[in-house]
Amino acid sequence: MALLLILPDRDPQPWAAALRRQAPDFDVRVWPDVGVPDEIEFAAVWKHPPGALRLFARLRGIQSLGAGVDHLLRDPDLPAGVAMARVVDPSLAAMMSRYLALAVLQHAIGFQRYLHDRELGQWRPQLAWAHRLPEIGLLGLGQLGRHAAARLQALGFPVRGWCRTPKKIPGVACFAGPAELDRFLADLPILICLLPLTPATENMLNLRLFRRLARGGYLINVARGAHLVEDDLIAAVESGLLSGACLDVFREEPLPAEHPFWTIPQITITPHISSVTDPVAVAPQIIENYRRAVAGQPLLHAVDPIRGY
Ligand code: NDP
Ligand code: OXD
Repeated sequence: MALLLILPDRDPQPWAAALRRQAPDFDVRVWPDVGVPDEIEFAAVWKHPPGALRLFARLRGIQSLGAGVDHLLRDPDLPAGVAMARVVDPSLAAMMSRYLALAVLQHAIGFQRYLHDRELGQWRPQLAWAHRLPEIGLLGLGQLGRHAAARLQALGFPVRGWCRTPKKIPGVACFAGPAELDRFLADLPILICLLPLTPATENMLNLRLFRRLARGGYLINVARGAHLVEDDLIAAVESGLLSGACLDVFREEPLPAEHPFWTIPQITITPHISSVTDPVAVAPQIIENYRRAVAGQPLLHAVDPIRGY
């Protein structure tokens, strides 16, 4: 019986090595070298070819190799009734918080403008937020959102958060559900998206939402490209409704060379690197989930397919 790794767009070797080190007696196979399909009991996957998981009649569990599971749930051929889990790890949350700290500090200090001014030989101090940092709104107060809230507060930023179910987080003004979304957004100068991609959250970064923010607000999207209506962002930046955006995720990745985002200087682009799962750190939870799946026990960090995350 075997665990199958499926990561067609990444080098699977660091993953295979970390899993084999964690469980030397386990049979770890790497797609497409599946062997006998009926021997596959557990699949650990990132962006698998749609339909691939249907080949394994004895599959007992599916592990996403990232925090998100939209790549699994969008597969119409996902085997029904097979338990699913995602990665939760302090290293993932810490890496994301570092990226977000950099993005908000760059924006609040005006760093990008100084880089540009340097090229022009211009001395133009910008002190709007020198003594009072702008408030940050976090869409999503889950594993990553809560960690980021604490880190951003520690840097001195006031923080608001929005999620699905009501929460109390010290020092964070918390809002929940569609009924409280507009109050959460009202006059926010910086908005960060850390929501899972589900039918309820897809396309929610749109012109209607941007209009609720402070004029000249700034958007940071590190969740999924499909949260954002791209044409609405372009219109918002070109009209001054937003001052700019920092985007780590895109509807199409890699971002195509001809995409208009590349030509808009107010849009910072990074290639989906804000937080990357460390195979060594998460190998223990994957092996534990393999054991649990085979024993018919609930998985760690289980995903609710109805809720979508
Ligand atoms: P969690 O599942 O821990 O948290 C999700 C949060 O979103 C929760 O607070 C949840 O609310 C909230 N939420 C979900 N649906 C809704 C909704 N319809 N309305 C309001 N709030 C909602 O996820 P993580 O924090 O671990 O990760 C978040 C996402 O970040 C991932 O799904 C992934 O897409 C993305 N990601 C991106 C990475 C990158 O490199 N760019 C790296 C890692 C993750 P509640 O608390 O009430 O359940
Ligand atoms: C994730 C990601 O979801 O890397 O973990 O995007």
